Amino acid sequence: MKENNAPKTIRLADYKAPNFLIDTVHLDVRIYDDYTDVVSHLTLRANPDVPNAAAQPLELVGADLELLAIELDGVALPSERYEIAEETLSIEQVPAQFSLLIMTRIQPKSNTSLEGLYVSKGMYCTQCEAEGFRKITYYLDRPDVMARFTTRVEADKQAYPVLLSNGNPEEQGDLAGGRHYVIWEDPFKKPCYLFALVAGDLAVVEDSFTTMSGRPVKLQLFVEPHDLDKCDHAMDSLKRSMAWDEQVYGREYDLDIYMIVAVSHFNMGAMENKGLNIFNTSCVLANAKTTTDMGFQRVESVIAHEYFHNWSGNRVTCRDWFQLSLKEGFTVFRDQQFSADMGSETVNRIDDVNLLKTVQFAEDSGPMSHPVRPDSYIEINNFYTTTVYEKGAEVVRMIHRLLGKEGFRKGSDLYFSRHDGQAVTCDDFVKAMEEANGVDLTLFRRWYSQAGTPQLTVTSEYQPQQHQFSITFEQVTLPTPGQPHKQPLHIPVAIGLLGEDGRDLPLQLADGSTLDPANPVLELTAAKSTFVFTGIQSQPVASVLRGFSAPVKMVYEQPRAELAFLMSHDSDGFNRWNAAQRLTVAVLCDLMQAYNQAQPLEADPQLLDAFRRLLTDESLDQAMVAKMLELPTESFLAELLPKPVQVDAIHHAREGLKQALALGLRTELEQVMARCPLDTEYRYEVAAVARRSLRNTCLGYLMSIADDAATETCVQQYRQAGNMTDQLAAFRALVHSDRGEKQQVIADFYEQWQTEALVVDQWFMVQASSPQPDALEQVNGLMAHPAFEMTNPNKIRALIGGFCNNNPVNFHRADGAGYGFLADQIIALNKINPQVASRMATIMTRWANYDKDRADLIKEQLKRIKTEKLSPDVYEVVTKALNQ
Ligand code: TRP
Ligand code: ZN
Repeated sequence: MKENNAPKTIRLADYKAPNFLIDTVHLDVRIYDDYTDVVSHLTLRANPDVPNAAAQPLELVGADLELLAIELDGVALPSERYEIAEETLSIEQVPAQFSLLIMTRIQPKSNTSLEGLYVSKGMYCTQCEAEGFRKITYYLDRPDVMARFTTRVEADKQAYPVLLSNGNPEEQGDLAGGRHYVIWEDPFKKPCYLFALVAGDLAVVEDSFTTMSGRPVKLQLFVEPHDLDKCDHAMDSLKRSMAWDEQVYGREYDLDIYMIVAVSHFNMGAMENKGLNIFNTSCVLANAKTTTDMGFQRVESVIAHEYFHNWSGNRVTCRDWFQLSLKEGFTVFRDQQFSADMGSETVNRIDDVNLLKTVQFAEDSGPMSHPVRPDSYIEINNFYTTTVYEKGAEVVRMIHRLLGKEGFRKGSDLYFSRHDGQAVTCDDFVKAMEEANGVDLTLFRRWYSQAGTPQLTVTSEYQPQQHQFSITFEQVTLPTPGQPHKQPLHIPVAIGLLGEDGRDLPLQLADGSTLDPANPVLELTAAKSTFVFTGIQSQPVASVLRGFSAPVKMVYEQPRAELAFLMSHDSDGFNRWNAAQRLTVAVLCDLMQAYNQAQPLEADPQLLDAFRRLLTDESLDQAMVAKMLELPTESFLAELLPKPVQVDAIHHAREGLKQALALGLRTELEQVMARCPLDTEYRYEVAAVARRSLRNTCLGYLMSIADDAATETCVQQYRQAGNMTDQLAAFRALVHSDRGEKQQVIADFYEQWQTEALVVDQWFMVQASSPQPDALEQVNGLMAHPAFEMTNPNKIRALIGGFCNNNPVNFHRADGAGYGFLADQIIALNKINPQVASRMATIMTRWANYDKDRADLIKEQLKRIKTEKLSPDVYEVVTKALNQ
């Protein structure tokens, strides 16, 4: 149904090269108390690749701008020579080559959308990706227009001593009235989404890095003075990232200076602006006292991610926003490789796959499902998704697996050298991989264009007489919006067969070929394929999809005894963990049934035994043990298990299993905790992180009983902990329990940490995600807390996101109060920050997964939201949710 004034859909099929190109930009940004004036001086020319381009009108885009002046080739344009519409400024006739001067006035102080130029805690900063530059000046705001930027920033010297932009500082000086200016020049041409500017009163931490060709690079991290004690880890991570990209990809940094600025108000994690990254404080600040191990890990990976963008994103950028995964999928893959090299490859892989299976699989089976390279969008901000990022990274990872490490490097070398300085497509990336390796990836390309998660059904049979093991794969992808018919995909399935002793058997196929023992992969290219292994002397146990070699939903019935066998013997760490998960899920399904029939919740002794072995075998990697003991989250189970989601059964089965395991293994759990004492001195090191995670996993189990003894241990840990990892684990365990002690602890924690914004976020998050039945009432109370801020996305994600995403049993309360709460917040946020509002709205798109009562309640709220005057961001999500 077509509605009036509905925002319009943008389609990849309609892509046209720009009629005009911009060679140089001189920006002069003058910051005043009440407004900011932007003078933009552009040199333009008709695009030589577009026939008759000079005859076309020039159409610049702009949003929320007040035009003060416009000149063409130095002459003021009379008002009849140009036309201003809602979001455009067009000039009918222009020369083949010309200059434009445009002066606009903007209001950064009232800009709560956090795109364009805005103010965060008194600091001016920008966010231009994807289309924020149009909120600064009229421009050709598209990534295939690349220009050389010079930026002059001018402001009051006392209030804004630090003035930054991309590139190198060229000149600075004082001006009348206590003002000053700095001129920055970026020698690399870039699309305007990589433009950045900062003005503030900031402290700086400096370091340096010498590149592989011996060039020194100055590294600067700008923060509020109060955060100077939280910079070391980011700086260290940056230097390791720079060295890693040289070693693994041969990529060197290219400017003399690399700056990072931390800001409190930020819509996403961080932004790779050329030479001037802007970071959410949550992704850059870290120290032992205020930051958990998970926080340290996040800082390391986001620092790496943004640094790696300098090549995969900035030097080689996207032609259009449909190609977003070109830079994001590849860069996520690169940061995942980096994190794997810095810590445990298996543990990192487990975390990444869990995110993919919980969030991306859910997205890909709902009304917002889209291919890694989408065909259309209403609002591009809605497409910074786990599909583009995480599934995109999986697609790159599959190419890596198909080509091998050396082949992949040949491909990336060709890609970077061929396309340096260009704005290109996902197809250009695949072509470089193909041509460097002499392979044909035609079929593989479907991963970019076809949405939905393939279901891979596996059956196997051992034929003792023939000493053969045959395994059959059937792939089916269900229809997704706009794609009713799906085609088979090229799926690499890493595989192993374990013999009776638990060792990998040699893999010989009946057709005479042998799989590479270093990387045994079956390549599926048809809807159904069978492989026959020969020379198998006894019934093997198959380990399929090792390392999660493809982003598919695998269904393979294996007896629980085989899962327990894989859990202790699989040479592939990921599948060892996955076997534990599959066994746990099977037991949870039993318990859900028991719960539904009001029967006692008892854990399968096979699982109890397997967990006992994990707890008592001191030779095992502690990080792996912790991972294997961790029960799948309720959201993971909601996505995995048949629909409608059994919200309450999932919750109670999971809690019941936790308690049953804790009661059955109490001594072992206490012994492990004794073996993993609290640290006297915090170190962010693989072994120490592993020890803390194992200890705190055990604490979580014990606190599911929450008797006096367990509570005493927990309170003691809370009081004695010398680092945030241990303190927060104890805090969470107490707050999520029904113990009266928690009231005092909640007050104490706030008292202790009220001056640390990021710790206060954790304080909100822990309370919001409590399974106790009064969680919504608590959240409602906290919305009025002085530390809560509706204009700060970190606070929204902690409190509102904490409740709606991380507290399924309370969010999905049968009375619908959770849905009403979320809808109220979406309506409020729609006016304040459409990007954040729309992220929150995606939670409501999954109504079809719930029972009719809940589905109706959610739809009712969606309809209520729809009666508001909506931003394109929220409009797109809400209409797609209602029209599914
Ligand atoms: N390019 C950024 C990254 O992934 C993403 C990003 C940061 C972003 N801020 C944004 C995307 C705001 C959209 C809007 O590294
Ligand atoms: Zn990115």
